[in-house]
Amino acid sequence: MMNKELLFNTSYVDGKWSTNTSETFKVYNPANGEVIAEIRDDDASIVEQAITAADKAFKQWSGKTASERSKILEKWYDLICENQEDLAKIMTYECGKPLTESRGEVSYGASFIKWFAEEGKRTYGDVIPSTSNSKRIVTIKQPIGVVGAMTPWNFPLAMITRKVAPALATGCTVVVRPSEETPLTALAIAKLSKDAGFPNGVFNVVVGKDAPTMGKILCESNLVKKISFTGSTKVGQLLMSQSAKTLKKMSLELGGNAPFIVFEDADLDAAVQGAMVSKYRNAGQTCVCVNRFLVHENVYDEFVEKFVAEVLKLKIGNGWVEKVEIGPLIHKKALEKTEDFIVDAKNKGGEILCGGNKIDQFFYEPTVIGEANTKMDLTHEEIFGPVAAIFKFSTDEEALRMANDTKYGLASYFYSQNISRCWKVAEALEYGMVGINEGLISTEVAPFGGIKHSGMGREGSKYGVEDYLEIKYLCFGNME
Ligand code: SIN
Repeated sequence: MMNKELLFNTSYVDGKWSTNTSETFKVYNPANGEVIAEIRDDDASIVEQAITAADKAFKQWSGKTASERSKILEKWYDLICENQEDLAKIMTYECGKPLTESRGEVSYGASFIKWFAEEGKRTYGDVIPSTSNSKRIVTIKQPIGVVGAMTPWNFPLAMITRKVAPALATGCTVVVRPSEETPLTALAIAKLSKDAGFPNGVFNVVVGKDAPTMGKILCESNLVKKISFTGSTKVGQLLMSQSAKTLKKMSLELGGNAPFIVFEDADLDAAVQGAMVSKYRNAGQTCVCVNRFLVHENVYDEFVEKFVAEVLKLKIGNGWVEKVEIGPLIHKKALEKTEDFIVDAKNKGGEILCGGNKIDQFFYEPTVIGEANTKMDLTHEEIFGPVAAIFKFSTDEEALRMANDTKYGLASYFYSQNISRCWKVAEALEYGMVGINEGLISTEVAPFGGIKHSGMGREGSKYGVEDYLEIKYLCFGNME
């Protein structure tokens, strides 16, 4: 049984549930295409209302002490943890990920709230040795103001809390626009934010299907001081150009093309375990999922054999069923894109080692393609599906050249038991994050983010608050 008190179908603005419109849009269960909710389709005016509410609330919220804000964040954290099972069910319903992964995401998402409830108390400034005896130089850090956060469907909860928790902890107020595919989780945590005691206007969630207009308003508003976005590089670039006129601070967590290098001296069993988790988490639909496996020619056959054996064990199905490990793809377009990658790879010499077919209109078989080469579309584009492509290399230089031969720079992984190689390769990889003998790198204590076309800014860790703060320099003169 699900707690119905967590189910809402309309925007949450200034502490109230919107009644602006009676128009609705549908939310579908990706596992079977059934309509699971009709959400009130708010238009641009709700975004304006939310921005005004957030701006009005900013003075009072930023005027509280960090520990007063922290107490409310802690309460929110507790409520999310108490409702873990129901939130996980909502998430599985709307984004299809297996229940075990949804439960994990609730804990992962909540961990950002707990972490930043503490970090918000440590936004220290500096006392800088002065160049003159008559002056004293000091810096303080202050919240940037109203934040516009736009979040994706693949992590309906954690991508909100990873942005919103540092913002709220430092005294910013927030307008979140969640993906129209997964509004229910966002509205459920909005309800819990109300129960936790955030003052009206501090945390607002706007839902509507017109993402381009809603995004544009957030980017172009003079009252919004910062945009934080997770999604595709193309949309990130558009938001950045729309934010140029108002010179906003931006945090952009964009596409990836993660390499996973298996060196000759790797522990192959560990590499296979790492490969499974980093490739097939959320059916391959995360921006840190492996896109290209680069395997040394001398261990290629053994790695492939062990890897395919594990892939064939994966249990596919509706995320509601316990022990399911691979859920559906988010929608028809995603499935078609996966099919296109496979057709293209086959035409260009790829060998289908397992999978390679859609199961029905919602599910795609976990697939491994051998003999991958750089002519294939999946070499350059983000796959975002359960397809692993395996390339061969013969020297470290070649592996690094192949790994770095992409405009993206988010996550990368490699396996080797040679400490000197580990250091050198880690330093040479042009990525924001490197997993060394590890396939799962996401945690609230570490800085998550990319370089090049994967974006800018860092989320989580002690660095995650910096993106929501401005440094103010105070110069005390005439001190004699
Ligand atoms: C993402 O796919 O955007 C986030 C993945 C993660 O936090 O591990």
